[in-house]
Amino acid sequence: MKLLHICLILALLQQHSKAKRLLEMDVAGRASIEGRIVGGQAAEIGYAKYQVSLQPVLGYHNCGGAILNEQWIITAGHCVVTFPPEFIVVVTGTNRYAEPGGVYYAEEVHVHCMYDKPYMHNDIALVKVSKNITFDELTQPIALPVGPVREGAEIVLTGWGSEVPNGNANENLQKISFGFVKLDECLAIFNQTSSMGVGHICTFSKEGEGSCHGDSGGPLVSNGYLVGVVNWGRPCAKGFPDVQANVYYYLDWVRNVISGNAKCTT
Ligand SMILES: *[C@@H]1O[C@H](CO)[C@@H](O)[C@H](O)[C@H]1NC(C)=O
Ligand SMILES: *[C@@H]1O[C@H](CO)[C@@H](O)[C@H](O)[C@H]1NC(C)=O
Repeated sequence: MKLLHICLILALLQQHSKAKRLLEMDVAGRASIEGRIVGGQAAEIGYAKYQVSLQPVLGYHNCGGAILNEQWIITAGHCVVTFPPEFIVVVTGTNRYAEPGGVYYAEEVHVHCMYDKPYMHNDIALVKVSKNITFDELTQPIALPVGPVREGAEIVLTGWGSEVPNGNANENLQKISFGFVKLDECLAIFNQTSSMGVGHICTFSKEGEGSCHGDSGGPLVSNGYLVGVVNWGRPCAKGFPDVQANVYYYLDWVRNVISGNAKCTT
């Protein structure tokens, strides 16, 4: 019985890692996925109170996410699309994903209706937890953005992602600052790939710094607002911008899901 359970989990993890997206883009502009911070530093305790770790089984970090309110977590679509809700455990209130401040279970999972349509677009999801998240000195929500990211903005990513492609998760939460790269510039860098559009924002600092496997779904925060959710990149820190879901662009969708008005009309 227990063995069967473990096998199922391993199968799910394996299936998921195939879908994982801190994407490696090949020359044709197709992107493969994964996610983790390279070149960052350890975050102070309580630095990112909105940060969560999404775990298929308690103790196994898979993706990042952020707390929007007592009931809702935001993350990337590719972090949750292959998992049934019972394999989405939300760990809150900690810098060490294996030492939870709080543990919550998914009650509803809403992946964007147009997830991956076209390829690599609309990679955003909301998870409703089954009991209200208790806020405390290490656990707080992050505000949704009130406007688009401006040029020159400092954007901070936090995550437990690995430091080398497909490496193990970092035990301690890392943080890293990026600048904002305008979409037209980012498109030029990626040779006008069809995997990028208005629903994305790009961030960059320099070669040797960037997101990597395990950062996927994690929060990019600027000036106290959640501006991005890690989507894809060319792992890891190879000198290309990282590409994130543009939370401002998806505000209506987020509000509709949270208020119970979201309908997929496909
Ligand atoms: C849970 O939080 C929501 C607001 O996010 C609130 O309306 C609701 O009353 C809370 N439920 C409980 C049981 O505290
Ligand atoms: C864009 O094309 C140039 C020239 O073929 C290549 O050197 C560069 O690596 C490409 N950029 C990306 C992100 O693949």
